[in-house]
Amino acid sequence: MLSQHDRPMRDWLALLPPTLAVGGISYYSYQTYKKAQCAGNGQVNTSIRKDINKVVDFIDIEDITEKAVLCRCWKSKNWPYCDGAHGPHNKATGDNTGPVVVRHKENK
Ligand code: FES
Repeated sequence: MLSQHDRPMRDWLALLPPTLAVGGISYYSYQTYKKAQCAGNGQVNTSIRKDINKVVDFIDIEDITEKAVLCRCWKSKNWPYCDGAHGPHNKATGDNTGPVVVRHKENK
């Protein structure tokens, strides 16, 4: 027979399964939400020239004086150039994107 002293402990243990279930569901929901926020509907480009079928940019190599820093995260407001938007994106999502830097060999 349990004493009055043992009963509160047993009551607390009874709360463990529902607490774990709610915690697990919350964690799974958060991960799903986070993934949806990052990927949109599986699209990488969520905002740049969405009115056309394919975003293609041309930069003449002769026009690059020292270097060109080009966006690869699709978050730049100065597309196709990097504006540093990859930093907040990486912080928010855990991603590791960054620009591609095109430079003349002598400017290394
Ligand atoms: S803003 Fe996209 S790579 Fe920097």
